[in-house]
Amino acid sequence: MQSFKLKEEIEGFEFGTPMDTEIILEKGSPAKISFNEKITLGKTTTLAFDLKPSDRIYGLGEHLGSINRRGRRFRSYCRDEANHTEDKFELYGAHNFFIHVKDHEQIGWFIDFPGEVVYDIGFEKEELFEIKILGRDFRIIKIPGSSIEEIVSRFLQMIGKAYIPPKWAFGYFQSRWGYKDLEEIKEVYETFKTEDIPLDGIYLDLDYMEDFKNFTVSEKRFPEFKEFVENLKNNGVYLVPIIDAGIKIEADYNIYEEGIAGKHFCLNAQGDPYVAAVWPGKVHFPDFLQPKTRQWFGEKYKYLTDLGIEGVWNDMNEPAIFYDEKSLEEAVDLAAASRGKNLNVHKFFELKDTFADLLNDESYHQRFYHNVEGKRHLHREVHNLYGDYMTRAANGGLRRHLNKRFLLISRASSIGMHRYGGIWTGDNASWWTHLEENIRMMPSINMCGFYYIGADTGGFGGQCSGELLTRWFQFSAFTPLLRNHSALDTRDQEPYAFSNEVLNNSRSVIKGRYRLIPYLYSTYMKAVEDYKLFFKPLAFEYMEGYEEIEDQLFIGEEIMLAPIYKKNQSRRLVNLPEEMALISLTEKTTDITLAPKGPQVMEYDLNHLRFFLRPNKMMPLGKPAENVKNLSVDELEILAFIKDRGEYLYYDDDGISLSSESKHLMKITVSRCGENYEIDVENPLPQLQIIKFKIVDPKGCLQNIRYRVNV
Ligand code: GLC
Repeated sequence: MQSFKLKEEIEGFEFGTPMDTEIILEKGSPAKISFNEKITLGKTTTLAFDLKPSDRIYGLGEHLGSINRRGRRFRSYCRDEANHTEDKFELYGAHNFFIHVKDHEQIGWFIDFPGEVVYDIGFEKEELFEIKILGRDFRIIKIPGSSIEEIVSRFLQMIGKAYIPPKWAFGYFQSRWGYKDLEEIKEVYETFKTEDIPLDGIYLDLDYMEDFKNFTVSEKRFPEFKEFVENLKNNGVYLVPIIDAGIKIEADYNIYEEGIAGKHFCLNAQGDPYVAAVWPGKVHFPDFLQPKTRQWFGEKYKYLTDLGIEGVWNDMNEPAIFYDEKSLEEAVDLAAASRGKNLNVHKFFELKDTFADLLNDESYHQRFYHNVEGKRHLHREVHNLYGDYMTRAANGGLRRHLNKRFLLISRASSIGMHRYGGIWTGDNASWWTHLEENIRMMPSINMCGFYYIGADTGGFGGQCSGELLTRWFQFSAFTPLLRNHSALDTRDQEPYAFSNEVLNNSRSVIKGRYRLIPYLYSTYMKAVEDYKLFFKPLAFEYMEGYEEIEDQLFIGEEIMLAPIYKKNQSRRLVNLPEEMALISLTEKTTDITLAPKGPQVMEYDLNHLRFFLRPNKMMPLGKPAENVKNLSVDELEILAFIKDRGEYLYYDDDGISLSSESKHLMKITVSRCGENYEIDVENPLPQLQIIKFKIVDPKGCLQNIRYRVNV
């Protein structure tokens, strides 16, 4: 089983030694791994590493908790987890890559396995890192390197290039479960316009479908949908509909009928399509592990692309299961048997949980099978591939139908899916702690190959306050995926649903985001191309005093963020590992001052974007625009902190082609000569006319230089 996952569609990469029941390591390997003969759970394999007090563990992707994973347990088993409380050990992704950092060395490990893996990183026993792989058919790949960044880069090269969205996917997106009809969507679109808030798209939640059936649009609630989609697109705004994993069982529903006829559904032990229930009631699950099913399902996206759609979110693809026939019957029987009984506390609680426990009970995973190259595989064994392979199917289809880039995100994922789409971090809540989780989660997910990532800004569940929304925008302004999404029956969460002050602050921050797009897009494209991180923890570069700081992140090579993520705070402590320039942006203003190395308190207004620019680095800023379609780069601002000499590579392209033919690299060099600067712009963007340099030197002296290009 281990080989089909990574080998597929990656050529020219060296993989680690395939291992079956034995773990082969070179002699004298610095990481002591012992193969534990005490197999506790049937086919479980246990690995154990020693943990020294100063050891750190980074990685494992989409999980709650600190960036240094030490002291916690984690489970790699994609789960529809609707309540991200601190005690949860798994979320929607299964990302089995981590780096073990010791005093003088670091080693990366990748466990290529499609089933459950459990990590205890010094939780039960502080000095022990134990990994249980629930199976024997895996590969472990060891990735050495002289630094954390080198290991990450080697790993990223090994797993292949990440998905690249269109440039418009870097804009602001509004979403809500509960936009009930086209009129409401129109109203959202128009309100963004009248309130002068940039907008690149609106996500459509399952409300647009007919009876929760994939690849249908309710004619009653969304009449003349195609015209509407095209009209919005002409104005630079895209609609991004949801697709769920389950297919409604309903005679004459074309997807259901085709699925049955083509043998595309997962089967139960008797060989009949497995029946589970999700949004529409009873569904079958496409067996995405079959290439023919991926091909078939991918073709279905044509229904959407024919309507003008260029972006989709794949959801409920862990897969989420509300109940299955057997479990519901048992629960109903249990409840019926309680009738007239005198229930003591234990019986009452059992009864109370009977129905709640139906949701995503993992026993369902023992009841259906996949067909992998003619062999039957119990879902439990390959569970973590399900959402991943649904997204591969969608990617294949969208690519064929559109022949250009498209927006594609998925809720469930495993390593390898990063080549086909991005992810959002699922059903978080409007809690301040979830803003902090968002900050900490980004680099861990990025390390595992995913770049087009972000959380539901403002929080999905619960009630968001205006202050939380604005603070969240101030962080999400730097995440490639920027989407404000919220759950049914929660408070309205659009920036204009709060006070005027919140609206004004949000507008200013979102417009600031649009000014950052030249930098963010450039950083994204270069990071993917060069196998570098977009989000980097301080610890990946700095030890001795800075390695424990997890609420400051580098974004690309040039800037560092230190967001506010606590209530009623207008200032926070920032610890600068080097002298940097403090940048402060609104939609119209740009300030740049010097900030010394070490701890200092930073003031943080609600209407500003604040971050730090590193020494001898530069970054481009554009002008705010209604949407990405209207972003112009005839004039750029370049912010620079130059001690002696700095170079910046500005990456741009047409933002939509699959090929890199339109790729344009502009190189800007700024050198200090006494009090003056020498500026060189190599290969300027054709449309660029003026660069306004704002350059600060180590004494804090600012020079504004207007530089004419293409003259
Ligand atoms: C799931 C998704 C959420 C969506 C909801 C309804 O909970 O994670 O984003 O709004 O389903 O489709």
